[in-house]
Formats: sequence, C-alpha cells, structure tokens
Amino acid sequence: MRGKRVLIAGATGYLGQFLVQESKTQGYLVRALTRDPERLAHLDEYIDDLFVGEVTNPDSLIGICKDIDFVISAVGITRQKDGLTYMDVDYQGNRNLMDCAISSGVSKFVYVSVLNAHLMQDLKIILAKERFVRELEESSLDHTILRPTGFFSDMLEFLHMARKGKVSLFGTGDYKINPIHGQDLAEVCVAALERTENEIAVGGPETFTHRQIAELAFEVLHKKERISYMPLWLMRVIVRLMRLFTSSKTYGPAEFIMTALSMDGVAPAYGKEKLKDFYEANAETGSV
Ligand SMILES: NC(=O)c1ccc[n+]([C@@H]2O[C@H](COP(=O)([O-])OP(=O)(O)OC[C@H]3O[C@@H](n4cnc5c(N)ncnc54)[C@H](OP(=O)(O)O)[C@@H]3O)[C@@H](O)[C@H]2O)c1
Repeated sequence: MRGKRVLIAGATGYLGQFLVQESKTQGYLVRALTRDPERLAHLDEYIDDLFVGEVTNPDSLIGICKDIDFVISAVGITRQKDGLTYMDVDYQGNRNLMDCAISSGVSKFVYVSVLNAHLMQDLKIILAKERFVRELEESSLDHTILRPTGFFSDMLEFLHMARKGKVSLFGTGDYKINPIHGQDLAEVCVAALERTENEIAVGGPETFTHRQIAELAFEVLHKKERISYMPLWLMRVIVRLMRLFTSSKTYGPAEFIMTALSMDGVAPAYGKEKLKDFYEANAETGSV
C-alpha cells in the first residue's frame, strides 16, 4: 500500500515550515505548495514533491491535489505586501484549494484559522477567514478547523519593543494569552488528520498576562523594564482612524493584532515549548 500523501499549503510560512517537517517525521509523503521553490530549498529532505502555484490563480493549481489524501492549509496574509486582499487569499485562495481537494477526492482538509474569531467578526481578515470556514463546513469534505492563539513568532513584537526600550500594552496589561510555538502547533495540525473533531482550539503550555510577557522580554535582554499602557478607547480610535486614512494592506494586520491583544486569548494547552527559550534563542541570534 502506498504511503499517505499530504499537501502542505503555506509551506514557506512560519507555521508551514514546521508542518512540512512534522508531516514527514510522522511518516507522510509531503507535497509542498510554494510560489518560489528557492524558499523551500532548506527543507529539501522533508519534501517529496514541490508544487509551484499561486492560490489566487486557479489555473496554476491544476493537478495540485492529484493523488493527495490530506490537505493542511496555513495559507493567509499575515505580513505579505503583494497587493492582494484577505478576500483574495484567506478566502478565495483557500476556496480554490478546497475545490481542487474535492474534485481530486481528498479525504480531509485541515485549515488554520484563529481563536476568538466570533469576537472579531468585523475585521477584514476575520470576514475572509470565516467565510472560508463556513464554506468548508458546508462542503462535502471531512475537515478540521484549528483555532490557535498567538504564535511565538508574533510574540517577538514584545522583544522588538523591549529592545527599543519600551513595551506598549493595551488596557492594564492583564489580558491573558497562552501563545504557541510553531512546532507544537504543527504536531496538533498533523495529528488532526486522524482526529474526528471538526474544530480544535489550541494554545501553548504556559499562560501569561501581557505584562508578564513584556517583563520576560526585558529579563531576557537584561534591560530595565519600561512598560506603558494604552487605554482601550484610544486603541479603538486609532484602529478607526487607520481604517479611514490607510489602505487595508496597512491597517489590516495592525487592526488584527491590536484587537486580538485587547482580549484574553487562552485555549486548551498543548505542547512543551517555552516562550523564554524562544526569546533567548532569538535574542542570541540578534534577530531582534
Ligand atoms: N501568526 C499568528 O499569531 C496567527 C495566529 C492564529 C492564526 N494564524 C493564521 O495561521 C496561518 C499561518 O500563519 P503564519 O504566521 O505561519 O503565516 P505566514 O508566515 O505569513 O505564512 C503564510 C503562508 O501563506 C502563503 N501565501 C500567502 N499568500 C499566498 C498566495 N497568494 N499564494 C500562495 N501562498 C500564499 C505564504 O507564502 P509566501 O511565503 O509565498 O508569501 C506563506 O507560506 C495564517 O492563515 C494566519 O492567519 C496566525
């Protein structure tokens, strides 16, 4: 019997690179979708075949799901500045992948959305992601929607601010979050291929207040703590002004991060990676 084959879409991203490695480690044959093969050269040993395509162009996806058993999609706009909208990528791009999966008889589609989407329904990114979620739920495809908290990669913002001397928090700094490392989340995503739940909320093993994350960032950098607090009303005014005076390319990521950090983001705990270790590794490499 041939090995089960999984397509990883969004393979070049923060989470996607862990998905590629974890799928291979768990014994799957891995097809990786990329717009630029060179960006996956370092993962060569984990990839059985590369598929070059652009999710917003259905013609470029012809054959992408041929002989594929499972799809995991971590495709989305986070910081990409290629002029595409959330509707183009997070909704329509994933919809194009889903259509390919259905027509090729894929067994299951795992999609990475976000935690607390129901509390952020007016944000452009959430409108696009949740439109796709609804259509996946209404489709004939077996599926699991992952709802992760913030990724460790996004927690680097605290380290950046601490490096510059001051961390700005929303509200009183008491909102809680259990952020998750890409490796820990990848393990849950790949395990979801064999799980029966249609939705899994996922957080990391440690819960912090935002203030505690700021303190950790200063501690790792051996810098004196300086934390400021922005009232929530001011944050909301800034988001509104950004919506009025900047393009969605600019305000989209900002309004998502600001809104997600103005509420608790705690989900059932998975994994073992510690934020302090991640911060220390990043502080040492000088990447922040
Ligand atoms: N970051 C967080 O804290 C967080 C929290 C919860 C959920 N999520 C969601 O989890 C998913 C993965 O997040 P991440 O941080 O790993 O994102 P990321 O690093 O930005 O990766 C996104 C991936 O999507 C691909 N992509 C974007 N536009 C594309 C297009 N037009 N055609 C083909 N591929 C395209 C990117 O490819 P290129 O490399 O070619 O651009 C990249 O591989 C996203 O959907 C995000 O919204 C993130």
